[in-house]
Amino acid sequence: MFEVSSEELLLWIQNNLDNEQEKRDSLYLLIDLLAGISRSEINSLRLKPQKAISMRVNLEALSDRWTEYIQNKKPIQYLANSCYWRDIQLEVNKNVLIPRVETEQITEIVLNLISDSTKELLITDLGTGSGAIAISLALKSSLWTVLATDIEQQAINLASKNFKKYSNTKNLKLFCGCWWQPLKKYAGKIDIAISNPPYIPSEVYKNLSTSVKNHEPERALNGGDDGLLHIKKIIKEAPKYLKRDGWLLLENHFDQAQTVKTLMLNNGFESIEIIKDLYGIGRFTIGRYK
Ligand SMILES: C[S@@+](CC[C@H](N)C(=O)[O-])C[C@H]1O[C@@H](n2cnc3c(N)ncnc32)[C@H](O)[C@@H]1O
Repeated sequence: MFEVSSEELLLWIQNNLDNEQEKRDSLYLLIDLLAGISRSEINSLRLKPQKAISMRVNLEALSDRWTEYIQNKKPIQYLANSCYWRDIQLEVNKNVLIPRVETEQITEIVLNLISDSTKELLITDLGTGSGAIAISLALKSSLWTVLATDIEQQAINLASKNFKKYSNTKNLKLFCGCWWQPLKKYAGKIDIAISNPPYIPSEVYKNLSTSVKNHEPERALNGGDDGLLHIKKIIKEAPKYLKRDGWLLLENHFDQAQTVKTLMLNNGFESIEIIKDLYGIGRFTIGRYK
């Protein structure tokens, strides 16, 4: 640990603080994730400028990372190898997407589907990345077994590490492979399948900000010409893996929900519903296999 006075830290913040809200938030997030000092702690330091505080890294290291953020537009979460998501803190690296705030709603949607929490359930998270969705559900009940897949072995390793930080139970099983393919032995047994697949159309992907394009894995984002390449594969195979009455829940791009709904209808799903995210966008499509 490194000791600095509150005054020194506050001065460092003042020297680096920008008028732009996004940069201000990023600076505080960097100090939080890297040095271990939250924004609310910083606010309270203003009342005690002489107080000594312990930080996980020194001010020089913070300056180096901040420069990297400004010059290379590298997301703070990658600079700190860490991110907050719901009530958990996950390790992230260049092999996985930084889990997004809108995806947090998926856990709520799934919890609302489950009427009997004393029942054993088989849940899948296809394309788990850092493990965010799978871990949040596996931690909710040891009666639920969560099967998570990803095409990227490094993502699987990281998801496993992230889960072990919170639990030593065995109810999260991780598989490397393409969508459903590693789950052959669970065919016809899955109660709820979830995926936040790559769904951004290639042309849109090309115009994303450099902070996304240069740092986040393209494989996690680019969904082919119409963005639906992976969504189509997942829906088509779903009937083989889901139980009758099993649910499929997909996150989709802002303008894809109606098409996803039609794809589900054409593949044996009923009770299809489009669920809006917190910004009022039809971000999730859910259907029941009959
Ligand atoms: C949008 S990211 C979602 C990551 C995580 N579930 C989340 O919500 O933050 C999509 C994930 O799908 C994985 N993926 C891409 N193609 C895949 C495939 N063919 N089979 C399985 N996973 C794949 C990527 O590696 C990435 O981790």
